[in-house]
Amino acid sequence: MKLKHFCLIAAPMIAYGGFTCYGETIDISTPNTTMLLDATLGQPLRFIYYGDLIPQAQAGQIAESTGWHTAYPVYGMSASRETAMSVTHPDGNMTLDLAVTGTESSVRKDGSKVTTVTMSDKVYPFDVRINYLTYPDNDVIETWAEAVNRGKKPVELREFSSAYLPVRRGDVYLTSFTGSWGNEAIMVEEPLKPGVKIIKNKDGVRNSHTAHSEVMLSLDGMPRENEGRTIGAALCYSGNYELKIDTDDSDWHHFFAGINEDNSAYTLGKGETFVTPALALTYSPDGKSGVSRNIHRWGRDHKIAHGNDLRKILLNSWEGVYLDIKEDEMAQMMADISSMGGELFVMDDGWFGAKYPRTRDNSSLGDWTVDTGKLPNGINGLLDMADRNGIRFGIWIEPEMTNTISELYEQHPEYIIRPTNREPVLGRGGTQAVLDMSNPKVQDLVFSVVDTLLTRYPRIDYIKWDANAPIMNHGSQYLTADRQSHLMIEYHRGFAKTLERIRAKYPDVTIQACASGGGRANYGVLPWFDEFWVSDNTDALQRVYMQWGTSHFFPAVTMASHISAAPNHQTNRVIPMKYRIDVAMSGRLGMEIQPKNMTQEETDLCRNAISEYKTIRPVVQQGDIYRLLSPYDGKGVASMMYVSPDKDKAVFYWWKLETFVNQHLPRIRMAGLDPDRMYTVRELNRIDRKPLSFEGKSFSGRYLMSNGLEIPYTHNTDHRNRSAWSSRVLYLE
Ligand code: DGJ
Repeated sequence: MKLKHFCLIAAPMIAYGGFTCYGETIDISTPNTTMLLDATLGQPLRFIYYGDLIPQAQAGQIAESTGWHTAYPVYGMSASRETAMSVTHPDGNMTLDLAVTGTESSVRKDGSKVTTVTMSDKVYPFDVRINYLTYPDNDVIETWAEAVNRGKKPVELREFSSAYLPVRRGDVYLTSFTGSWGNEAIMVEEPLKPGVKIIKNKDGVRNSHTAHSEVMLSLDGMPRENEGRTIGAALCYSGNYELKIDTDDSDWHHFFAGINEDNSAYTLGKGETFVTPALALTYSPDGKSGVSRNIHRWGRDHKIAHGNDLRKILLNSWEGVYLDIKEDEMAQMMADISSMGGELFVMDDGWFGAKYPRTRDNSSLGDWTVDTGKLPNGINGLLDMADRNGIRFGIWIEPEMTNTISELYEQHPEYIIRPTNREPVLGRGGTQAVLDMSNPKVQDLVFSVVDTLLTRYPRIDYIKWDANAPIMNHGSQYLTADRQSHLMIEYHRGFAKTLERIRAKYPDVTIQACASGGGRANYGVLPWFDEFWVSDNTDALQRVYMQWGTSHFFPAVTMASHISAAPNHQTNRVIPMKYRIDVAMSGRLGMEIQPKNMTQEETDLCRNAISEYKTIRPVVQQGDIYRLLSPYDGKGVASMMYVSPDKDKAVFYWWKLETFVNQHLPRIRMAGLDPDRMYTVRELNRIDRKPLSFEGKSFSGRYLMSNGLEIPYTHNTDHRNRSAWSSRVLYLE
């Protein structure tokens, strides 16, 4: 379809709300969607439409015939409504009254286009600019607001949403993601009812353990995976956020998204501009999976560090040895992952600390020098071992943190976040403190942690960047008294600046965002990070649920998913290796286990799985997702698949979730295939004595999508290996 972007269409008279004016319709179209706005000079910017692509010729007529909403409601002159922005002017006036004063659009080097509508206050020297960014190849619109103080005195910002979207009431359902440590990204689906629904974060550092800053709105009743008009919204911000849906006495739901203003009132100085983080919006008529595919593609193409590159298969040392790092065991783990076909070894926490060796989790953060007691030949010794094993080497750091037992804290107690006149509240180990990233000296320090490692050891291929504490007490030793309320925001500005510097100097290193597990699954961090750790919980059954939720907004290339030990260290559940592998293989496959404790049979299964994963990796990590049957539907099984962009290959996953005799599990119809193409089916990770009845046979995409394959509920194995668990991975070519 023809691409249109940001056309200004002169529309004829529109009449609404008791007055008549000439409209300037702004058409923000992506290949398959359109957003229409009206930017008539002298009027507030108005929202008209968001949904399926509208031919340009119709835009004016739609603008004429439909009602409109203020596209960015502000506080004061219609004070009874929820608003996106409220300010206090220097004279104490608490109102804004905005009118459009200009619209401009420009094309950036990468082909993306940004349209900016400027609204100015009718009396005060204060502007609000609303921006819309699109890409030629993508159905995502990024939108954000900017507040500009053109006056001579400071203006107090009390509310500063990134964006507002009105959604017509009807039978609208909200899909959101809640959870906590070890149970991240748990999906909640609910009808939107009158009242206010708030999804928020106040951790200060990590922002996706307890709630995610992404939601979907299903406009046609109960959310469905592959049908129904659906809007997706992802706030791209690493800090505290708030998503709010107000269902008031009108015909509309009012959706607001932005930085969480609680504890963050912001003083905008003379001549300053406050830029809010972007909200990524997408629309799909193809249900939630349709929204996921749009967002994943946008993420891989434009938001995720190296989003279109394949990730290495790794072994991480954490659940294998925890803090008990020893050189000989690192050597053994490297040899083992290499012999299984792995490509990278990551040494986790526990390798550092000279004066205070990191033997417990209560010391040494900040002292990023190698503990030569544990590693007599240092990092270079480990790098040599990696070279000898033909694999790459990665390392764990937690650079935003320190412990009160550390040389860093002894030298720079002024670097930590703590309120004046009070003892700091401390976290993990009773000693962990958060460094004040608003302080440029701390930013330099954090940069130098990475810089020193990567200049001293240029062979380091991967960094696991952890963050294991919230901002527990409010108080910056760096910010002035009148800017203390900026801490939560300045922390993330400092974080962003530091990561920008790191990426400018080290564009190629792979960096994982970890934050006590899944605390940093967010598009606010992914421009600098290649992937994130989904959860500290590696239990395969619980991972089916967590990865299901996570997959709504994040592609498999970002979802670190590791095979771990049985009994599982978090749940104590004993799950056979085959099932653990089949779940881990639906994300970015890795291992987190002491391989020497595995049986020969388990080792052989893993070796085979790694080899199979190399074949399917491009489809998993770069393909289109089709979720088929949700684990949340209580049908005893969950299933999903990835399809290559050309639809010539697909990987199908089937995980049985519970076991009852004569339970009638549904047959799963596939999706996303080319109906007219023939696909040959091959089972991966097979443990059955006999191949499945459809092994090696070819079926049309049409048959697979209308009928599906009959998956046996159990595995046909010898007596010793029988278990209640059952799972299948099928490769379709
Ligand atoms: C929390 C992370 O989520 C774990 O994977 C591990 O790296 C530990 N921190 C190390 O302290």
